Amino acid sequence: MPKLGLNIDHVATLRQARYRDVSVAHPLAEPSPLTVAKIALAAGAHSITAHLREDRRHIQDDDTRLLNQLNAPLNLEMAVTDTMVATALTMKPQDACLVPENRREVTTEGGLNVSGQFDRVAKATQTLTAGGVTVSLFIDPDDRQIRAAKDAGAPCVELHTGAYANALAPADRERQLAALRAAAELARSLGLQVNAGHGLNYSNIPPLLATVPHLDTLNIGHSVISRAVLVGIEQAVRELAALLR
Ligand code: PXP
Repeated sequence: MPKLGLNIDHVATLRQARYRDVSVAHPLAEPSPLTVAKIALAAGAHSITAHLREDRRHIQDDDTRLLNQLNAPLNLEMAVTDTMVATALTMKPQDACLVPENRREVTTEGGLNVSGQFDRVAKATQTLTAGGVTVSLFIDPDDRQIRAAKDAGAPCVELHTGAYANALAPADRERQLAALRAAAELARSLGLQVNAGHGLNYSNIPPLLATVPHLDTLNIGHSVISRAVLVGIEQAVRELAALLR
C-alpha cells in the first residue's frame, strides 16, 4: 500500500491571498499550513510536502522551518539552484524533491530534464545527499530520464502523473498508465524508490494502483485541499450561522 504524502502548498496559497504582508505566525494568518499538516498526519498522511518556490508565492521560509519540526518526514520540493541547495542544507529536511521551476507556470508543469542538464542535477543531488538529505527527482515516465536519475546518484524518483491525470480519452489513459507502469518497473529494477504525483485525485488513483507496481509514496495536494473545502463548507457555514443567531 503506497504512503500518502500531503502537498500543503495550496493551504498556503489561500493564506497568501489575504495575509501576504504578515508573518506566518501572525494570529490572523489563516489557514495555517502547520495546523493542517498536524490534522493530516493524525488522519493518516505519512509525510508533508511543501514547495518553497523562488518567488515565495505560497509556502514561506518560516512554513518550511515549522513543518520540519513536526514528528514526520518533510519532503521539500525545490528548484535546482545553488540558493535552494544552500537553503535545504541549512534546514535539512528528511527528503528533497528536485523539480523544474518556471515563474510563469501556475504549478509544476513537466518533469525535470535530468539528462539535458545532467551535471547540474548530479551536483545538486550529490551535495544534498552528502548533507544527509534524501533526494528524489521529479521526472516524466521516460527511460532516458530514469537512467539519468540513477546515474546522477538519486536514490528515488517521483514519476510525473500529470499526463495520465489529463488524459481523458480511454486509449490515451491506457497509454499513459502503460508508460507509468514501464517506468516504475525500470526504476525499481535499477534499485530506485518509486514515488508518483501531480494531478492525482479520488477517481484516477484506483486505476493507477491497479496498474502501476512498486509505488512507495503518492504526493497529492490539489484534490485533497479541494475535497476538504467541499466536505468542510457545511460545518463552516453552520458555525457562522449559529454565531449570527
Ligand atoms: N509532486 C510534485 C513534484 C509537484 O510539483 C506537485 C504539484 O505541486 C505535486 C506532486 C502535487 O500535485 P497536485 O497538487 O496536482 O496533487
